[in-house]
Amino acid sequence: MSIELIESDKQVIEWFAAGKVEDFPVDAGVAVKYKDTQLAVFYFSDSNKWYASQNLCPHKLEMALSRGLIGSEGEEPKVACPFHKKTFSLKTGACLSGDELEISTYAVKIEDGIVKIGITE
Ligand code: FES
Repeated sequence: MSIELIESDKQVIEWFAAGKVEDFPVDAGVAVKYKDTQLAVFYFSDSNKWYASQNLCPHKLEMALSRGLIGSEGEEPKVACPFHKKTFSLKTGACLSGDELEISTYAVKIEDGIVKIGITE
């Protein structure tokens, strides 16, 4: 069993089983439905790390981040919204393009081949 924990200082209240590892795209994001909202899940093959965030871009409130381009800025994994290219850290949720915007990010672990997202709220 392999567990990959992404740093988060928030208290996880539920590990949401988002799906099987093999059903997620490599080096891209995908939206998953969680209750009445959507989360975005990303897999970076270079580092073999998973990240999750809200799918809603806080700029113009588009459900879009899962379709954004992913990459890294130094050690910082990031996603750029496909609409206006606002870029967010997938670790801290901070906007890296200088705007007063922020997204929620979540811990991810892989357990028995299942991608689990650490819901914090
Ligand atoms: S809606 Fe995402 S950057 Fe504008």
